[in-house]
Amino acid sequence: MTHHLADRTQPATPAAGQAAPAEAHSARELTPDWWRGAVIYQVYPRSFADADGDGMGDLPGIRARLPHLADLGVDAVWLSPFYASPQADAGYDVSDYRAIDPMFGTLDDATALIDDAHGLGLRVIVDLVPNHSSDQHVWFRQALREGPGSTMRSRYHFRPGKGESGELPPNDWESIFGGPAWTRTTDPDGTPGEWYLHLFAPEQPDFDWNSPEVREEFRSVLRFWLDRGVDGFRIDVAHGMVKAEGLPDMGRAGQLKLLGNQQLPFFDQDGVHEIYRDWRTILDAYPGERIGVAEAWTPSEDRTALYLRPDELHQAFNFHYLNTGWNAAELRRVIDSSLDAMRPVGAPTTWVLSNHDVVRHRTRLGEVPGRDRAASLLMLALPGSAYVYQGEELGLPEVTDLPDEVRQDPSFFKDNGQDGLRDGCRVPLPWTREGTSLGFGTGGSWLPQPASWGELSVEAQTGDPSSTLELYRSALAVRREHPALGAGSGVEWLTAPEGVLAFRRTAEGGAAFVCAVNTNDVPVELTAGLAEGTVLLSSGPYDGSGVLPADTTVWWTA
Ligand code: GLC
Repeated sequence: MTHHLADRTQPATPAAGQAAPAEAHSARELTPDWWRGAVIYQVYPRSFADADGDGMGDLPGIRARLPHLADLGVDAVWLSPFYASPQADAGYDVSDYRAIDPMFGTLDDATALIDDAHGLGLRVIVDLVPNHSSDQHVWFRQALREGPGSTMRSRYHFRPGKGESGELPPNDWESIFGGPAWTRTTDPDGTPGEWYLHLFAPEQPDFDWNSPEVREEFRSVLRFWLDRGVDGFRIDVAHGMVKAEGLPDMGRAGQLKLLGNQQLPFFDQDGVHEIYRDWRTILDAYPGERIGVAEAWTPSEDRTALYLRPDELHQAFNFHYLNTGWNAAELRRVIDSSLDAMRPVGAPTTWVLSNHDVVRHRTRLGEVPGRDRAASLLMLALPGSAYVYQGEELGLPEVTDLPDEVRQDPSFFKDNGQDGLRDGCRVPLPWTREGTSLGFGTGGSWLPQPASWGELSVEAQTGDPSSTLELYRSALAVRREHPALGAGSGVEWLTAPEGVLAFRRTAEGGAAFVCAVNTNDVPVELTAGLAEGTVLLSSGPYDGSGVLPADTTVWWTA
């Protein structure tokens, strides 16, 4: 099956389901390296739009709302998992990698969604979860039945326990969600049996990537989705598939952090790179530059760069940047070290501020008016690709007062689990000012939306030049028109007062672009010569006087 992409340089946006004219296709299809400066929008299917009114988002809902994404001006969409799953970890526990969970729709819905997106000039990246399956996956269920020593058990990490009667876990590894990373099985005759490894919830047993069957299965899953036209994969826990030989103790106690950067015997092992070299040959065998995006938490930017060698993956989320506070010196340091780390492998840096696992950046940065908008304009001015998490274009805050009884994040239910705040960034989007679930669907929403979100809805913000939605639309439009944004691999720092970040970027043969960010909570007079040229965009009111208001970013062209 071949899919064509509409040319996004054409201003007209065809309606969902309607393909762009044939002549428009070729330019986009031939765009080399489309991903290097791409802005990619993360859709969290449960919470984007609900077409069938069951309170849970679904694929037809996403399909109907694709024009919002085309109008926003993003280049691609990444969809969090929609596969068959018992939903022990919101779909990151997959029981069938080739099927759609009925709560999200059907395989035909998925194909129609991919086709519609392409018709609107949007590429589609799907989530791939290769570190673990669901405990309801047919392989794991069979492994339990077949017992110790079976071929099926060799596809997961089953081990006898320690202690006199195997009553202790095989090693000291902890689950990211809290508690031991091992669960003991019960043999068919009812006696306690072997233990199995799960770095996440007990319902998410880890595959053993030493198994040739596991490797072959994922090659086949990649091809299954590539054949359906997807433009790439976001690879879940991309640093986790290979474990240190012999599964040695980690040798210390203490809670692990999701998006942490600890050095551990089950993360960032060198053996994982062989898998990506293998996958790259599969991706490259398809036309149109299909990409791999690593969710890899590593101890350093240099370790992250290894995933992006020319024969491995294309992008890796920059979590070092996401974890940096609102501090000019710190931001400059992490921007420099990230760009420096990527240069030797020739990969773009991939900036990100929010996703479905972290507190939304508006709240993380302290709920200071305008600060999230200033942070967004900084991110969108940096060279490389950027990911936008659904709702950040509306300036949504984290919902911090969800009642316990509606929570679904598995880590919330563990005594010493991680912060348990992941539900607060997953609350369904508000599309309209009023109505049941604010236009999310016709039947409520699986997590309650704050009543105040009507004023943050797409409807309320559209056409209001001071809204965050219009800021993102303008920023992405400028990014499209201005070649110095997104492309390239470096920034030229300019002299600026304390607490202000200022840099210039110049595209080959193009005009210079200047970005200045005031991270101070007071206005600052910019250094002479800095605030010259035409203002392209500002994250808050700016009068052109050279005095940059608190928590504000301004873009100029010279
Ligand atoms: C990744 C996902 C997260 C999930 C975990 C286990 O970190 O982003 O949501 O819980 O992997 O699959």
